[in-house]
Amino acid sequence: MHLENFAKMEKNFKRYLITTALPYANGPVHIGHLAGVYVPADTYVRYLRMKGEDVLFIGGSDEHGVPVTIKAEKEGVTPQDIVDRYHEMIKKSFEDFGMSYDIYSRTTSKIHHATAAEFFEKLYKEGKFIEKETEQFFDPERNKFLSDRYIIGTCPKCGNDRAYGDQCEKCGSTLSPEELIDPHSAISGAKLVKKMTKHWYLPLEQYETWLRQWILEGHKEWKTNVYGQVKSWLDGGLQPRAVTRDLDWGVPVPVKGAEGKVLYVWFDAPIGYISNTKEICEKRGDNWEKWWKSDDTKMVHFIGKDNIVFHCIIFPCMLKAYGDGYIVPENVPANEFLNLENDKISTSRNWAVWLHEYLQEFPGKQDILRYVLTANAPETKDNNFTWKDYQDRNNNELLAIFGNFVNRILVLTHKYYEGAVPALENLNDRDKEVIAEMNQYPEKIGKLIENYKFREGVSELMNLARLGNRYLTENEPWKQFKTDPERTKTVMALSLQIVAKLAILSEPFLPFSAKKLQKMIGLEVTSWNQADATILLNAGHVIGQPELLFEKIEDSVVEAQIKKLEDTKKQNELNAWKPNEVKPNVSFDDFMKVDIRVGTVLECTKVPKADKLLQFLIDDGMEKRTIVSGIAKYYPDPQVLVGKQVCFIANFEPRKLKGVESQGMILSAEDKDGRLVVVTPSQMVAPGCNVG
Ligand code: MF3
Ligand code: ZN
Repeated sequence: MHLENFAKMEKNFKRYLITTALPYANGPVHIGHLAGVYVPADTYVRYLRMKGEDVLFIGGSDEHGVPVTIKAEKEGVTPQDIVDRYHEMIKKSFEDFGMSYDIYSRTTSKIHHATAAEFFEKLYKEGKFIEKETEQFFDPERNKFLSDRYIIGTCPKCGNDRAYGDQCEKCGSTLSPEELIDPHSAISGAKLVKKMTKHWYLPLEQYETWLRQWILEGHKEWKTNVYGQVKSWLDGGLQPRAVTRDLDWGVPVPVKGAEGKVLYVWFDAPIGYISNTKEICEKRGDNWEKWWKSDDTKMVHFIGKDNIVFHCIIFPCMLKAYGDGYIVPENVPANEFLNLENDKISTSRNWAVWLHEYLQEFPGKQDILRYVLTANAPETKDNNFTWKDYQDRNNNELLAIFGNFVNRILVLTHKYYEGAVPALENLNDRDKEVIAEMNQYPEKIGKLIENYKFREGVSELMNLARLGNRYLTENEPWKQFKTDPERTKTVMALSLQIVAKLAILSEPFLPFSAKKLQKMIGLEVTSWNQADATILLNAGHVIGQPELLFEKIEDSVVEAQIKKLEDTKKQNELNAWKPNEVKPNVSFDDFMKVDIRVGTVLECTKVPKADKLLQFLIDDGMEKRTIVSGIAKYYPDPQVLVGKQVCFIANFEPRKLKGVESQGMILSAEDKDGRLVVVTPSQMVAPGCNVG
């Protein structure tokens, strides 16, 4: 019955259940994940907690699925080895990054396997699935059914010959294995055959009317990218969706006759949100059902755009099918993608800024990354991360606007008043205006966060710091102190209240710096609404010693990061290298026209004033001949070639190069990085002998 309660827009929620997409435990987390899911979710949760809301923040690793088993096979280890490795790594880096989860667990846990199996079993027993025997692709060499990423073929939409059975990473299309041209096995390379197998399907089309009412009618306030994707799925017509797979890694299908089958990863993973809730509630002696089965729980899923269909259609249909009071999400504020230096982030091409590496290379600088990813969040369209922008936002915004304002005020307070806050009195009209303006920020920023507008929220935070800077420039207390020390007290007192407000309002966005600042000024923060007050630091309160909140990031630091990415790009080009296509055939007679011979290098020197050319003197068995070759770049010390034998074309039309007549052509191999290497016979032979 709770599920029927759609279209109630203004509800009084008693508690918040916030989930973040469970990252696959087959690789580390990168800035694309952070910008799309984890930074906004953590900002939202920190804000709610400051508002005094009852919040449960759920995370965890998604440990099943084909990407895990493929990686295990490639490395010759077990899938469990893979997920153990990456689960620990992701968990640790989230902790260090300051993700404020109540729990970060995993889908290989006992409680998850039991929860997912029970979920399936109930739907199965109640006849909520369709059972179908269909032909599926089978790898005859491995004697295994294959699906999803185990199948590789050519994308029918863009021609990429490495598209997967579920998706083409080049053009982003969602695919089914049937659509692939020339599908073959990703493990054995074998051509696939079709074989009958039984699977269970969730008939999504039966939920269409309900979905339309719940989302299209009832949640017009959802982000347009999310709403639009849901609408186009619904308008395209829903189909029964298989929820089991022929695999040996996953939650076993709890039905007789289903040996060797597991739940589809997208069936079990979102149930992980429920299992992880159970796990933490068990630990805390809390009742998990109140989080999932009460009308006054507000559930919000933070995800990236590639997860929309699963969180807005499939998982809600599963919950609806299960019934028993399960709620559905109140919102799914999915983000678009983040690019890196104008190129799509890609795990396989190592084109990413990895969180664990960032934390290692930039210790204590979590807030800079949080800030940059929020200020530049892909909220409404794909966006781009560049190291230059990272540096600029740190130097010109965090440091120049926020940090410098705070630092100036704290230093002057010590200089003028030995750290004691002066009384805020004798206000002039401008002071009153500034007070009125600064007092709008708690609500303004709060509303933006509540509406998932984190970019705007953080930019308003900066505007509060800008207000402080403007007020300082207008009054110049450092000059005023000598001429009008009474007035300076007011200016400093008011500025200190702005500093304190920043210390509170920055906490969701810049948790580390906020805590540091709160400590520095001796402000105990208990809630967001505390910031509504004009006076946060009482007259006479003594603040602590100022420390820098932000430091300048030097060019050399970002240059090193850019260099690292350039190296990656070069490496990728080498990895993608393929030999040239073979040229059209030539006849034996034509071949015989070319006179290839071996000669011994007598002299080898650089051609003066020509940085590309080497001049060889070759013993060709008859006389000495001069040959010029454009390989100087690859032989910085040409002497190494003296005494070597080389192959050359003896009847190549002589020509002049930089004034030297070249009587032939030396044969070189062009390596995959473009380097030219002289070809030599495998043993010494008589100079002048033919090659053929
Ligand atoms: N592992 C999935 C991904 O990275 C997300 C799973 S979210 C969950 O795209 F809902 F299934 F848990
Ligand atoms: Zn494609």
